[in-house]
Amino acid sequence: MLLSSRVKGVADSITQQLNEKAQAMAEEGHIIYNLSAGQLPIKPPQEFIEKIQQQLNFLKSYQYSPVAGISELRKKILNLHKEERKVSIEGLDVILSNGSKQSIYIALGALLDPGDEVILLAPYWVSYPEMVKFWGGIPVTVKSNVFDAFSPALEDIAKVITPRTRAIIVNSPNNPAGVHYPEKWVKAFGDLMKQHPEMWILSDEVYADLSYFDPAPTYSYQHDPELIARTMVFGAISKTLAATGLRMGWTIAPKNAVLAMGRIQGQATSGPSALIQRALLDFDFSKVPNFLAPVKVHLRRSANLVREKLRDAELQNLWYQSHSAFYFMLDFSRTPVFARFAGEHPEKDYSKEICQELLEKYGIALVPGADFGLPNSGRMSLTMEEVPFQEALNRLVTFLKST
Ligand SMILES: Cc1ncc(COP(=O)(O)O)c(C=O)c1O
Repeated sequence: MLLSSRVKGVADSITQQLNEKAQAMAEEGHIIYNLSAGQLPIKPPQEFIEKIQQQLNFLKSYQYSPVAGISELRKKILNLHKEERKVSIEGLDVILSNGSKQSIYIALGALLDPGDEVILLAPYWVSYPEMVKFWGGIPVTVKSNVFDAFSPALEDIAKVITPRTRAIIVNSPNNPAGVHYPEKWVKAFGDLMKQHPEMWILSDEVYADLSYFDPAPTYSYQHDPELIARTMVFGAISKTLAATGLRMGWTIAPKNAVLAMGRIQGQATSGPSALIQRALLDFDFSKVPNFLAPVKVHLRRSANLVREKLRDAELQNLWYQSHSAFYFMLDFSRTPVFARFAGEHPEKDYSKEICQELLEKYGIALVPGADFGLPNSGRMSLTMEEVPFQEALNRLVTFLKST
């Protein structure tokens, strides 16, 4: 049977393939160190679990919610945004969706006409380019790497802006780089955006609560409130409350954008889980810092461990110390093992082959950088417990130094 050309244009996920392989190897009895996780290996805060349990007793928890979400919860999220970011919420509204992945997807649907361009800052989250293409848009990538601390040059962003540029996606803290953009960069970025009043800023802030070295992330609309009128902010409980499977995210955006997104959501999925919304309505968000404190201690320790291992092994100039989200990026092209893969053609991407061998021979699962727009690199997750993580790092270093 025929399938749409649109769906044929969506890339297969290399990450998915490697994950399946890692799972199959584990089932065959191999020791696998899975460093590909994009979620915390813990349950949500007990207070939140109890709120869910309480809501199980009510009929409304099982019924459709309004398309954009329960209005009291929308107000609560808006007020939280005002308090946490210290910004005005005038003219803004909120729409809740089944995870911020859906939020970003329908936001792009509300903004893009076929042929419109969306600027992505590499390394970027794997789903952005595919979502842009799905709506007929064109992803335009601006690169960064370990040498510019994963902060793309603003001149490079300015260069790719055209009359067809509709939006730019900024993800800070960043998946996969494990860093957030420094305040100086954020302010200069805001200045650049002021010169392009027709562009939307899509601010993916799902890791905002997970920075573990000061200073914490800031956002361009905080420094220049005029930008609020064309910024869409994405948040979620997935990372903040360790609740990826509950599928709850939101968009804070100007009212007209939220209305447009509601039209898509209303015909596609309706509002997200009424049960989880009602539990969130009752949940005291001031519990979040306490819940995340030990998580951040763990992430900081893991990030330092990686740095020390790589330094001791004299593997320099191939990483930038991560300080937020759960990830650490490695540039394979500067490791001894790279020559064996690249031979005469170091300009090509070998991240998939490198990650495949690392999995097959050393039992370590990383996510190949090609999926993130950063060839010849790999993303390592920092969430694993210390002892197996140490073992995994020892194996990883042995592999990277092998020739
Ligand atoms: C940068 C980024 N944005 C958005 C999401 C989507 O998260 P969710 O749909 O679980 O809210 C993820 C998930 O990994 C992510 O890494």
